Amino acid sequence: MSLFKKVDELRSEFKQALASSPALSDLERIRQDYLGRKGVINDLFKKIREVEAERRGEFGELINQLKLDVHDRIEKVIETHRAEKIAKSSVDVTLPGVIYQRGSLHPIEQTMRDMKKLFHRLGFSVAEGPEIETQWRNFDALNFPPEHPARDMQDTFFVQNGSVLRTHTSPVQIRLMLEEQPPIRSIMPGRVYRNEAIDAGHYCLFHQIEGLYVDENVTLGELKATLELFCREYFGEDVKLRFRPSFFPFTEPSNEVDVSCFLCSGKGCRVCKQTGWLEIGGCGMVDPNVFDAVSYDSEKYTGYAFGMGVERIAMLKYGIHDIRQFFENDVRFLKQF
Ligand code: DAH
Repeated sequence: MSLFKKVDELRSEFKQALASSPALSDLERIRQDYLGRKGVINDLFKKIREVEAERRGEFGELINQLKLDVHDRIEKVIETHRAEKIAKSSVDVTLPGVIYQRGSLHPIEQTMRDMKKLFHRLGFSVAEGPEIETQWRNFDALNFPPEHPARDMQDTFFVQNGSVLRTHTSPVQIRLMLEEQPPIRSIMPGRVYRNEAIDAGHYCLFHQIEGLYVDENVTLGELKATLELFCREYFGEDVKLRFRPSFFPFTEPSNEVDVSCFLCSGKGCRVCKQTGWLEIGGCGMVDPNVFDAVSYDSEKYTGYAFGMGVERIAMLKYGIHDIRQFFENDVRFLKQF
């Protein structure tokens, strides 16, 4: 059989092969049979030399054309398969997508982050300490005398070996001052524990943010200004601050800090119990006895400290009336933040 005839024959065989609408896997095999390195078309290329010299060019063109046609036809059929598959599939790309539920930050975490951000802008770094503390750091070094009734102010969970679950974040002040020399300007966020009867306003664990600034010539005026800046940023421009004399063993003088009720603008409402004021924490000037405990020169340095309850601040800000909601992990509650 002449090689020219062979080309014609291959062409019609190929047409037949495709006429039976082969599956994708068959198409791949057909491609190999015709276009593969050991395929029939390559065989023809090898036989060019057997064609009489004056017709070689014509023959070359012929098999080249066959090669291109076979290639194009196979690509077209594959494309048709793809289009059919898409048309048959049940995906309707015009439908709205499925919205996946994403978790959100717990309101306490959110509140702490917001507070940290504000204090960061005021120049405070962040320090942390462990939740199990020695009595020395939790009480003694903070100027609670051994048998002083001040220790009864806090109902404490004791751990084996006489350590305690820290009742406040103030022991982190002690850790920080033992590690570093002034100036110190840090906040200390964390979880604290108290053995208390649980009700809408009290829980056995909660969070505090402690603040400490120690340097030469730190004043009560700076403490007031710092807390005022923080409160205005956090609660709103019009908020006013009030310091009430109080007592903490580790500060002298000591104050409790109130902000004007931002719900009723100080007129008196249910949340502020008609007083127009909301208590947000305690503060004062670091007691020289505390400096003595960490071997700071109390003649040279002064400092202020403050402590705020994170749950309390979140409750005020978001109008939450029961502290227990923070710990129940009811998704209906958490979803709102
Ligand atoms: N540690 C106090 C408490 O838990 C809060 C506190 C009050 C912290 C005054 C301070 C401070 O740093 O100066 O009730």
